[in-house]
Amino acid sequence: TNGITTIDPGYKNTGSCESAITFLNGEEGVLRYRGYAIEELAEKADFLEVAYLLIFGELPSKDRLAKFHSDIKAQSHVDEDVKKILDGFPKSAHPMGVLSSLTSALVAFNPTSVNVDNDEDMYKAIVKILAKFPVLIAWTYRKRAGLPLDYGDDSLGYVDNFLKMMFKKPNGEYASDKKVVDALDKLLILHADHEQNCSTSTVRIVGSSHAGLFASLSAGINALWGPLHGGANQAVIEMLEAIKEDGGDTHKFMNKAKDKEDPFRLMGFGHRVYKNFDPRAKIIKKSADDVLDSLGIEDPVLDIAKGLEKEALEDSYFVDRKLYPNVDFYSGIIYRALGIPTEMFTPMFALGRLPGWIAQWREMRLRKEPIGRPRQVYIGETLRSFTPIEKR
Ligand code: SDX
Repeated sequence: TNGITTIDPGYKNTGSCESAITFLNGEEGVLRYRGYAIEELAEKADFLEVAYLLIFGELPSKDRLAKFHSDIKAQSHVDEDVKKILDGFPKSAHPMGVLSSLTSALVAFNPTSVNVDNDEDMYKAIVKILAKFPVLIAWTYRKRAGLPLDYGDDSLGYVDNFLKMMFKKPNGEYASDKKVVDALDKLLILHADHEQNCSTSTVRIVGSSHAGLFASLSAGINALWGPLHGGANQAVIEMLEAIKEDGGDTHKFMNKAKDKEDPFRLMGFGHRVYKNFDPRAKIIKKSADDVLDSLGIEDPVLDIAKGLEKEALEDSYFVDRKLYPNVDFYSGIIYRALGIPTEMFTPMFALGRLPGWIAQWREMRLRKEPIGRPRQVYIGETLRSFTPIEKR
């Protein structure tokens, strides 16, 4: 035998690496990026600052952050031929599939991005993808919406520029709204990293073969697409809408979620690590109230979400399994209030998680981690000889 006698499905009890980037305590609902509490960063930092912190390990000085931003601006063009690839997709294509394809295609237009053997080349590859990924997301959205694909305004902040690329009118009109920018900025910070989750582990293992950064990120985007992971934020809104259409009977959907025969799960609930509450969900729930109030939006789906949470917190099935709202449960309500369509929710998760994926990939390469290659417990056929086709 290969000496392996037990396996660990889903790696529930396996530590894959040592990392100095993000700290989680699932029992106490603690989340820290490079030692800073998520509650502080969400209140006091902005997304690009947190991206720098995650990737390079320290909060940047004012000058260093300004240089980081100007280095990113210098790379914020995407080769016009990428639009030809985009033209090849039907409008019905899911944006996550388009994004993973375009991210992988970027290698062809940035061939030197695979060289990361020194700090300078690594920095260039990182800045390139931080600059170009928001463009890919905006173009993917606008292509579906039948709107012209071009750029925002580099004199704006990183998030405001992204919003302009997404929502500027064909005549170029766009009115920055600080409330909207701040709400999205905070959401992106809350999504920025989360130690060895499914998509980050994917980015690490693909990168461990020394595939380039963009190829590794493309794999991570596909892992995040799944409804059990980042795709949950879209699935939550679709579930809440279904409950609303069905007359708002949350109890019926709770019973469906508890029925082992029924594949339906309460989307936005449960977490592999948080067995108490997801600290991000707490912040997002409060932010949802603030954002809807400040934008003067009434969204009946928010009340349904709160009703569902209240019921689950009093239901033994959920309490016994320590199932609480996670990061995806309330985020879609804010995205919707910001004018982001449902099919773009998971791409927004990807935009938020991009710095975390980069930080973890960089750490894996700098620490010279070995190629990921686990073993197995073989349960197939023992040795048998070939049967000629005439005899089968
Ligand atoms: C993210 O890992 C990360 O950090 C991810 C993430 C990040 O920032 O990267 O936090 C982002 O992906 C958040 C999770 C988004 N996914 C969802 O909201 C989808 C619904 N949630 C589940 O599918 C589930 O809770 C997971 C995938 C999140 C966690 O799954 P686990 O840890 O493998 O737990 P499990 O499937 O073994 O469930 C344990 C029990 C089971 O019941 P029993 O077999 O013990 O009777 O709890 C039940 C499950 O059936 N259960 C649920 C449930 N989640 C778990 N029952 C109903 N509804 C649910 N949502």
